[in-house]
Amino acid sequence: MVLEGTWTSLFTWVFCTLIPCSLTDPGAVVPAPQNLSVHSANMKHLLVWSPVILPGETVHYWVEYQGEYESLYMSHVWIPSSWCSPTPGPECDVTDDITATVPYRLRVRATSGPRASAWSALKPPFNRNSTLLLPPRMAVRKDGSHLVIELEDLGPQFEFFVTFWRKAPGAKEHAKVVRSVGFPVYLGAMEPGAVYCVKARALVRAIARRSAFSQAQCVEVQGEALPLGLALFAFVAFMLFLVALPVSIWKTGQLLRYCCCPMAVLPDTLKITNPSQKLAPCRREEKVDVCVMTDRAAPRRGLPHAELADVGEGP
Ligand SMILES: *[C@@H]1O[C@H](CO)[C@@H](O)[C@H](O)[C@H]1NC(C)=O
Ligand SMILES: *[C@@H]1O[C@H](CO)[C@@H](O)[C@H](O)[C@H]1NC(C)=O
Repeated sequence: MVLEGTWTSLFTWVFCTLIPCSLTDPGAVVPAPQNLSVHSANMKHLLVWSPVILPGETVHYWVEYQGEYESLYMSHVWIPSSWCSPTPGPECDVTDDITATVPYRLRVRATSGPRASAWSALKPPFNRNSTLLLPPRMAVRKDGSHLVIELEDLGPQFEFFVTFWRKAPGAKEHAKVVRSVGFPVYLGAMEPGAVYCVKARALVRAIARRSAFSQAQCVEVQGEALPLGLALFAFVAFMLFLVALPVSIWKTGQLLRYCCCPMAVLPDTLKITNPSQKLAPCRREEKVDVCVMTDRAAPRRGLPHAELADVGEGP
């Protein structure tokens, strides 16, 4: 291809020197794209160049790359870029072509119909470790009494180092590494009435680099005093319930007993349940009888004795 390019250039040079060239000439040379550079941020790489303008003609661009592997082990073969073979605009997303952290050579040429320009190469080669890592965008909020963070999805190569702390003197800073994004991440429980702050930085292990920290975002757990009051209320209610439960069970038992058992049973219960009570009055009666009898007998027995004695003494 290099040889072919050389021959084309030589042919064009010879052709143009011998016969005066004009833009309308079908053999007119297509200028090579100039000012190649890579705009790389957050591991997205965009190769850009100054547009080639040919009045009245449609220009296309072709991009090729050569990584360390291709240049060392594949006889310097150039591989057409995935998305720019060809492309109509003066830029090319080479993110999918750059798959290793090694210097990549990039080149571009312009075509118009069957005519092609010479290749223009990027100087120096591009290494993705030079990408600009921006502080990650994030959204911090509270979910109930939990601190929640949502981070922007920057692709599978990104991890996030998140730190959060309670805004109070001497408060400890907590850290968490978040690997998966796209859904909310719970950082921890928050104490009511406190302010919590969060900041995050992006990490890319493939290039051993990290971004600066994002601006800290804070949330206040002001509205959480109500759930605490509710909890306190619930606790008091539960305690009252615990106290009321045995009382109500006892009351219900009483009611059920009166409902199920007729009033007529009551005397029976009183009589049958305690037989000693039934016998006691009888004994008492007997005792009384006995006592009465003895009381009656005693004087009777005593009297005759006395009488006898008196009688005995008398005569
Ligand atoms: C290349 O960039 C420089 C300045 O950045 C500009 O002056 C020049 O015209 C550009 N070349 C082309 C071919 O556009
Ligand atoms: C990128 O890697 C090269 C070695 O491949 C190293 O020399 C260079 O300092 C690195 N650049 C950054 C910004 O890490």
